[in-house]
This record gives sequence, structure tokens and C-alpha cells, in this order.
Amino acid sequence: MTRIIVFASGKGGTGKTTVVTNLGTALAQLGKKTIVLDADVTMANLGLMLSLEGKEITLHEVLAGKKKAKQAVYKGPAGLNVVPCGMSLEGVQKIKLERLKKVVLELADNADFLLVDSSSGLGHDSITALAAAQEAIFVVTPDFASVLEAMKIKRVVERLHTKSPELIINRASGDRTDLPKNEIESILELPVLGVIPEDIEVKRAAALGEAVVVRSPKALATKAFKKLAATLLESEAELA
Ligand SMILES: Nc1ncnc2c1ncn2[C@@H]1O[C@H](COP(=O)(O)OP(=O)(O)OP(=O)(O)O)[C@@H](O)[C@H]1O
Ligand SMILES: [Mg+2]
Repeated sequence: MTRIIVFASGKGGTGKTTVVTNLGTALAQLGKKTIVLDADVTMANLGLMLSLEGKEITLHEVLAGKKKAKQAVYKGPAGLNVVPCGMSLEGVQKIKLERLKKVVLELADNADFLLVDSSSGLGHDSITALAAAQEAIFVVTPDFASVLEAMKIKRVVERLHTKSPELIINRASGDRTDLPKNEIESILELPVLGVIPEDIEVKRAAALGEAVVVRSPKALATKAFKKLAATLLESEAELA
């Protein structure tokens, strides 16, 4: 059974693309057939994080009806399958977003995991990405603004999915100013699947177009991403 999971946030910049890139790579390292899809159709940058920018065939061409979904799949680290999205305004203007769900289902065929990166908030493109997946994981940072914004998308996701969403806390600094994990869980009434620390190695890897889990095996963030991948696999076993 393929798990199709969209990574969402109310607030922008919480780390959705970073999580999709690194969790996807960590799952691929564990031998799982994993696809990551950049469904942030207007502000795409997943390809950039994996040095796959500038490809001729991307999600844009697929959503424009010019190419098949499998033609937009590229090899990333550890055998990860990556579907980047184009970055041009012209490309955005030609897409038919209502094709996304069908494209997602086509890609999901034969995969263990399809991780969908989406834009933040509740615009048309984020709602379409949320609706195209079967489950959602919210990426929040440990601060009130991020958690309260997640509350808004929670209501929408609860109407779209039968499975309740889960949380990833990203950029945890360990400082007293961080909203504690249990407080985030009780405000949102959702469980935390994993906590990723603030780690400069994440930015260094992104700047070079690499996954931190490949570039820096000993980094704290890498350990956290690997633990998160193992947790997802455990919940997989429970579902079976
Ligand atoms: N754990 C981390 N430690 C340090 N820097 C991080 C971490 N996670 C993300 N970042 C940095 O934060 C910035 C935003 O991350 P990212 O682009 O993944 O967020 P996003 O939620 O996808 O943003 P958007 O809403 O714009 O799509 C990037 O510069 C990224 O390198
Ligand atoms: Mg992003």
C-alpha cells in the first residue's frame, strides 16, 4: 500500500521542503521506494534543494497536459525519485491544477511512499495538494505564530482526510523560548511524530543542493530525520 502524505503548514518557511527532501532521502536509504513531488507550483524549490533545477520536463509540463507523469521523474540521492516543478511564471500560467490528484495517483503506483511538498496557507494550490493526498503531516516551528496558523489548516484537513494529521516540530533550538512539545500537542490536539533540531548543517547542505542526511551523516538533524523515517515505518507496520 502506498502512503501518500502531504506536508503542510499554515505559516510559510517552517521547513516543509527541507523535511520532504531529507525524510524522503532517509526513507530511500532504508530501501523504501519513495517519490517526492514538488506541488508548490508557484514557488517551487524542491528541485533546487537536490540540484535538479532547470529540468525540461517538470510537474508544470505534466499539469499542462504536455507530458506524462513518469517523464518528470528524476533520480535523486540513495535512489530517491524526485518530481521537480518548474519555476517560470509562464509555466505556472499553463497548468491545470485540477489534474494534480490524477497525477499523484499515477505516480503513487508501485511506490511505498509519495511525499508531497505543498505551499503554505490555504490558497487554491495548497488546498489542491492537501486534497490530492491521503494523509497530512504539519510542519511547525516551536512558536505560537506557527502553531496557531496550523490550527487553521487543521480544520480544512479534517474535512478532507479520514486519518487525523500528525505533527513534525522543526527548527527546535532547545532554548527556553521554544514552545514545549507537550504544549504544541495539547494546543493542536495532534501527536508529534518527530522533532528536528535547528542545525546549521541543514542550511549548508541546502546551499550546495544536497540532502543533509547524505552530506552530513553525523549531524544532529540527520539523526533526527533518520529517526523520523524509522517512526514512519513503525506506524506503517502498525497499519498493516
Ligand atoms: N532544521 C533546520 N535547521 C536549520 N535551518 C533550517 C532547518 N529547517 C529548515 N531550515 C532552513 O529554513 C529555510 C526554510 O526552509 P524550507 O524552504 O524547507 O521551508 P518551507 O516550509 O518549505 O518554506 P515555504 O513555505 O516558503 O515553502 C531554509 O533556508 C532552510 O534551509
Ligand atoms: Mg517550501
